[in-house]
Amino acid sequence: MNQQAPQDAPPSAALRPGRVARPAQPARRAAGAADRPTLRVGVLGSGTVGTQVIRLLLEQADDFAARSGARLEITGVAVRDVDAPRDEAVPRQLLTDDAESVATSNDIVIELIGGIEPARTLILAAFESGASVITGNKALIAAHGPELYAAAAAANTDFYYEAAVAGAIPVVYALRESMAGDRVTSVLGIVNGTTNYILDEMSTKGLSFDAALAAAQELGYAEADPTADVDGLDAAAKAAIIASLAFHTRVGMDDVEVEGIRSITADDIREAHASGCELKLLAIAQRVSSEPDGVEGISVRVHPALVPADHPLASVHGGFNAVLVDAEAAGRLMFYGQGAGGAPTASAVLSDVVAAAAHRVNGGQAPRESSYADLPILAPEQALTRYQIQLRVADAPGSLAAVAQVFGDHDVSINSVRQASYVDVGDELALVTIVTHAAPVSRLEAAVDGLRAQERVAEVVSTRRVEGL
Ligand code: NDP
Ligand code: HSE
Repeated sequence: MNQQAPQDAPPSAALRPGRVARPAQPARRAAGAADRPTLRVGVLGSGTVGTQVIRLLLEQADDFAARSGARLEITGVAVRDVDAPRDEAVPRQLLTDDAESVATSNDIVIELIGGIEPARTLILAAFESGASVITGNKALIAAHGPELYAAAAAANTDFYYEAAVAGAIPVVYALRESMAGDRVTSVLGIVNGTTNYILDEMSTKGLSFDAALAAAQELGYAEADPTADVDGLDAAAKAAIIASLAFHTRVGMDDVEVEGIRSITADDIREAHASGCELKLLAIAQRVSSEPDGVEGISVRVHPALVPADHPLASVHGGFNAVLVDAEAAGRLMFYGQGAGGAPTASAVLSDVVAAAAHRVNGGQAPRESSYADLPILAPEQALTRYQIQLRVADAPGSLAAVAQVFGDHDVSINSVRQASYVDVGDELALVTIVTHAAPVSRLEAAVDGLRAQERVAEVVSTRRVEGL
């Protein structure tokens, strides 16, 4: 504090019992702010998200002061190129290319550069200096989460990352704090807006993957290099974070089975519609008993899956995200909203800023890493999943019995069988759609191989994982 606190003012962070005094940059009182300390805020990155964070912090300064108990003074904004044209919401005098000094000379550091380095080094330096850190960097957390948590604990400061999963949707808070009194059994979500936009364009307008990707790039959803989104890596990082929080277990990027949407065709979408489904890229984190030993573990994966048209995730359109959480006591919760974009993501970042600032003023701290359960992470072949398999089979007595026998031989239980009205009369073939009960992927794949070898099966038209039945 620069000045003596008045009698009726709340004690500063440094004066609160249980708080560590931070000699580096303690809260100080600003001129004109009679009863509130000032906290220094450094912003690393002023791109899509950083610009909106800065704009809102400046435009709504009084509201943030009232909500957090401190005036939040932006002291510096680190960027790569200080001379690049920028939104006028970002005061040019705050720009600097000295990211390290921004990271190490503030009470609160907001990292919005993205990627692993220099973000990791800068965040570690910020913790070292005693700062509270807020980030939206899912790639960094999925790769180095435990190291960052440890650094925050060592510095006795806060580490918040609401914006790292599903943009504006408060799913990190929900899992880390709201669900702390419950036992989560599964999380199923659409957590990548770009791929949801692409699949939705393919579904509603009949576009090819390439045309839908081009539309996503034109609108700024997808980047020039769309790899992280379309290959499922962005969703996988979010799935790792979700699973770590939901199951109190360290889950990293390498623990997530990933399949993206690059190979999805317009025909796949038509087939999904024909079976009353939509095709969605899902992030899935489940607590399951592995087979055959029944050991409890977790399965974390990202892949396209069919969801029935009347399932809540089927009606998530455009770039929106949605997350379904199932827990033993609460039952099902659903979260829906904008998963990306400057202002929506800034909303999540700023909720973290308010929480961190309030802790520095009043004491208290963000939840620490909780990994006590340390559940085993199941290999992809141990995961239980349901398949929808479409076959063209001889339209003759005994065909369905022969097909059912193949499933039985591989210990896969059938949930439903439907023969479409579509029949290829010339070849005397019928289109049969079979949905299985959940089974290990290895058994399902063996059953599909068996179907291909069965003489009454002319063709295995498609095999898709199905969720939400
Ligand atoms: P941008 O690419 O738009 O902005 C990145 C910013 O970081 C730019 O201002 C850039 O400077 C600056 N920067 C890059 N490298 C350095 C460096 N070495 N030193 C200093 N500054 C640097 O990113 P976004 O705003 O889109 O994303 C930021 C973070 O938020 C990422 O972690 C992302 O995953 C996350 N996020 C983004 C969402 C979105 O919708 N965009 C949604 C949810 C999370 P310059 O301006 O000079 O190029
Ligand atoms: N590229 C991401 C998406 C936003 O499309 O959802 C950042 O997480």
